[in-house]
Amino acid sequence: MTLTEKQITGFLDSASHAAETISETVKEKGIIHVFSHFDTDGLSAAGIIGRALFRLDAKFRIRITQWIDEKIMNEILSEKPQLLVFTDLGSGYIDLLSEKLADFKIVILDHHQVSGQQTSNIVHVNPHLHEIDGARDISGSGVVYFTAKAMDKANVDMAPIAVVGALGDMQDKYDQRMLGGMNEKIVEDAKNAGSLTVEKDLIFFGRETRPIHRTLASTTNPFIPGISGEEDKSLAFLVSLDIRPKQGEKWRALRDLSEEEKKRLCSALADHLLSKGLHYEVSNLIGHVYILNREEPWTPLRDAREFSVLLNATGRMDKPSLGVAVCMGDRSSALEESNKVLEKYRRSIGKYLGWVMEKPERMEELKNIYVIHGGDYVEDKIVGAISSIISMSSPNPEKPLIMYANVKEEGIAKFSARTLDMITDKGVNLGEIMQVAADKCLGKGGGHNVAAGAQVPLKNVNTFIKLVNELVEKQLKGEKIGS
Ligand code: C5P
Ligand code: C5P
Ligand code: ZN
Repeated sequence: MTLTEKQITGFLDSASHAAETISETVKEKGIIHVFSHFDTDGLSAAGIIGRALFRLDAKFRIRITQWIDEKIMNEILSEKPQLLVFTDLGSGYIDLLSEKLADFKIVILDHHQVSGQQTSNIVHVNPHLHEIDGARDISGSGVVYFTAKAMDKANVDMAPIAVVGALGDMQDKYDQRMLGGMNEKIVEDAKNAGSLTVEKDLIFFGRETRPIHRTLASTTNPFIPGISGEEDKSLAFLVSLDIRPKQGEKWRALRDLSEEEKKRLCSALADHLLSKGLHYEVSNLIGHVYILNREEPWTPLRDAREFSVLLNATGRMDKPSLGVAVCMGDRSSALEESNKVLEKYRRSIGKYLGWVMEKPERMEELKNIYVIHGGDYVEDKIVGAISSIISMSSPNPEKPLIMYANVKEEGIAKFSARTLDMITDKGVNLGEIMQVAADKCLGKGGGHNVAAGAQVPLKNVNTFIKLVNELVEKQLKGEKIGS
């Protein structure tokens, strides 16, 4: 859908309004507390606002979190900052913020579905308020980018980070995995500043840096059964296609292949996917590649998708400040540490994927959904990443997937829900479903139509799953589920 001038202006005006509110507080030397989400998009958002505030010499602090809870509320109430800025989260908590923090000046820069009625102390920038799709046309870091740009034109240098954030949220939903909508404007800004190049190529991780078989094996989107996660089999696959993995002693990278070799590889991968019945993944093989010109070649920061995985790793492995520092420009110790965390993260993802696949009963099939019972075994912070990967290789892509892990100390289960656009096109909205089902189970849920999450008291886990299964059916029949 092309955005209209009215939508774009409305959105940008609200970003300018937020920019003014932030700049005013800075001028008054007020203390600003930023809260951001712990995934790629949230860390990118934190990096952009952090850099913008740093440029203004503001007094600020950034805190990364998986959700807004009682602990955070109490902290805010006791520390009483002059301004609260929520980035890549907040829109799902409007009621809570309005009720508990009525005396605070608040700016929300988010792209999640909005739930609740806001009070006048909140400046709320969200694409959904302008009928712009927050699941594909702009991410949380994009909302922050436009706000930062309105604060100071110099912040245009953060455009590539907003591209990384959008790709981390899998917003490359336009033809051939292109970023569209407001994201396209960010891409244009970055291109004009000379910091980004966009090319069409095979979409695989490490295209610039790694041996081809490792590149194939470490790619999970598209997820290729028998190749993703399997270096030995990837190598055998290449050899069977007569593609030499080495040039003399040196491993070849994807970029070293001739056009003819690339074509051969691409059509063999397509055949392989088709033989597994994964038709919809074939179109995902070739796509737009976003290259960060100012980053060193041979590093994971050069390719925006690889950069996004590095950030995700720091957030989900409890080292979010490393990711934020990298976004703000640290290319020394924070980057070095992040690379180590990335390796650990890859191993951890591999372990959990293996665990799910090991026993079929770990992925239960209900009438309308799949359920993966991560229980006490899976780390709650990794659930979102694992469910994203598995939903792409699901035996029946028609069925949304939910997965949970227990967070025993807090007495809750953390749920992640994922589906495909073809299912949201049929009326399923996982954000709504998570919200409605969690409300009924004394929990809290929300998110996007394609990807959403919830926290639910442990004792209500089974009721919650049953409810979600029913709500999906209702939405497929076109019934309203109401909150
Ligand atoms: O909170 P936030 O919007 O940043 O997170 C969105 C999450 O949903 C990310 O973890 C992203 O990987 C996931 N997602 C997905 N499929 C989509 C859109 C988002 O798995 N189509
Ligand atoms: O945690 P997970 O990656 O599964 O979350 C998917 C999406 O749902 C994210 O955008 C996240 O911010 C959102 N979410 C939410 N409210 C919750 C849980 C998750 O908006 N209670
Ligand atoms: Zn986001």
